[in-house]
Amino acid sequence: MCGIVGYTGRREAEPILLEGLARLEYRGYDSAGIATVTGAHLCVRKTAGRIAALSKLLTKQPAPGTAGISHTRWATHGGATDLNAHPHVAGDGAVAVVHNGVIENYAVLKKQLEADGCKFRSQTDTEVIAHLIARHLNGDLVEAVRNAVRHLKGTYGLAVISPHFPGQIVGARLGSPLVLGLGENEAYLASDPSALVGYTERVIYLHDHQLCTVDPERWDIFSADQRKVSAQVHKLDWDPGDADKGDFEHFMLKEIYEQPEVLERALAGRLDEAEATGHFGGLNLDPQQLRQIERIVLTACGTSFHAALIGESLFEQFARIPVEVEYASEFRYRNPPLDRNTVVIGITQSGETADTLAALRESKRKGLRTLALCNVVGSTIAREADGGVYLHAGPEIGVASTKAFTAQVAVLALLALYLGRMRHLSYGAGKRIIDELKAMPNILRQTLECHRQVKVAAEKYHHVTNMLYLGRQYLYPMALEGALKLKEISYIHAEGYPAAEMKHGPIALVDEDTPSVFLAPHGAVYEKVMSNLEEIKARGGPVIAVACQDDEHVEAKADDIIHVPNVPDYLQPLVVAVPLQLLAYHIALLRGCDIDKPRNLAKSVTVE
Ligand code: AGP
Repeated sequence: MCGIVGYTGRREAEPILLEGLARLEYRGYDSAGIATVTGAHLCVRKTAGRIAALSKLLTKQPAPGTAGISHTRWATHGGATDLNAHPHVAGDGAVAVVHNGVIENYAVLKKQLEADGCKFRSQTDTEVIAHLIARHLNGDLVEAVRNAVRHLKGTYGLAVISPHFPGQIVGARLGSPLVLGLGENEAYLASDPSALVGYTERVIYLHDHQLCTVDPERWDIFSADQRKVSAQVHKLDWDPGDADKGDFEHFMLKEIYEQPEVLERALAGRLDEAEATGHFGGLNLDPQQLRQIERIVLTACGTSFHAALIGESLFEQFARIPVEVEYASEFRYRNPPLDRNTVVIGITQSGETADTLAALRESKRKGLRTLALCNVVGSTIAREADGGVYLHAGPEIGVASTKAFTAQVAVLALLALYLGRMRHLSYGAGKRIIDELKAMPNILRQTLECHRQVKVAAEKYHHVTNMLYLGRQYLYPMALEGALKLKEISYIHAEGYPAAEMKHGPIALVDEDTPSVFLAPHGAVYEKVMSNLEEIKARGGPVIAVACQDDEHVEAKADDIIHVPNVPDYLQPLVVAVPLQLLAYHIALLRGCDIDKPRNLAKSVTVE
């Protein structure tokens, strides 16, 4: 969703702000803008459309100055227009504000401000913040922001500048991330650390209700009650190479190809071969507490939800612990009876998804232990959960999640092994699972060889308007994931279904123009899946089968085949993920879609 970048220092702000915004493009947005302090004035440039349009505007009308704020906006209140783009200005040019989040009481505030004589130019909720700050401005920008946010209900990550306080940027956070970057005689403020990669490695994550002020020489952080507070400076260990595409045409393709290394990193240091179990440092639960777990709730959204569905089978199979999987957006408003021996695990790439965060907060409120499986170090969910596991997948820039999903599944398998070894799972079984997991990075390297077959299938089917994805057991969540990938980036309507359930309704959709992707590698339910495949063929539906190399039966039946290596059932999601991601990628490519920035989508969904 929206992105914020601020800079103050000795250098010209404009190019730094533009590059920072470009790094945040992947989050999804539909307008962009910048404000700098130029002499005694604000210089504001903003436009609907892409950063390229803003860049063009700045070529004609530059925004000079060594301090500024900038924003990419994903429209919530008011359309994607020039006027609704941030920054918003108030008080006759006294303040400029960029904002991530949603102000729920903006309509009431706007009415009051209009009655007091404020003139609004946009339809946004953000403009009320600008007017409130301008009204409270009286010699101290931090104080003005503090007094303004007291009126707000909702969520905000804010960056504010004023020509009356050149060189100063004030930030405030409630429910929407904000990170300070510290340099030599310069400082940054951003909604996402990826904007700062290559500029600084020293960052401070702001907490909810905190305010900060930065200028080139100093920074201060304040709690809501006006106290100055100390803060931990974290090291950002992302490689600047993570922020560019290298030789790949798209981030998504690069990230698909990174998956073997991602698996290595997710497992590194976590395999205890001597004890045939997993090893985790940050769960913050002792063995006694872990043995007491009687139920696990896995909660997540989107692709992470599909990883959770795989986690359900893994925990049941290895640890014999009952599991429920809940959409975070539903779970947060339900009130299921949960006892003290239930652990709630949030799964999230970004660590900022509003619904997952709220579901975990609600669980904590009820006294339940919470864990997070998270990719972004220092993210809100990583900090707020009682314990957790980092995925170490590296920054995922493509909006469609690929490598983070693979890491989630690997970590869930290892966690299931760890809990299983504390219960019924034998040493021998644990040893076998460790050996199988260790083999997976190389197996994924082999899996990538299916790329050529995927391209052939994409050529053949990229024009269709509907597609079905069918699988069973461990591959039912993969049918959902394959369909989600296709929908997200190619805009083709796709449904994922348990293969046998299909005849209870969706089979009515089958015709010669509706291909079905069958997930049919060898495994426990292989014959059953083959029967379902026959049912589709009998009704004239084309079949693309994802199957093992030597499978003559599938060869005889399917119209197109994509080969994957033969692995144990519980690892099939990892090998099947690769062709499904590639298929969506190539179909989207052939349809001319904007793969890394699909329409309407945002990388981290920080609103409800
Ligand atoms: C996946 O391709 C999506 N773009 C989306 O479904 C995503 O998985 C979902 O929004 C959850 O995000 P999170 O993992 O960062 O919480």
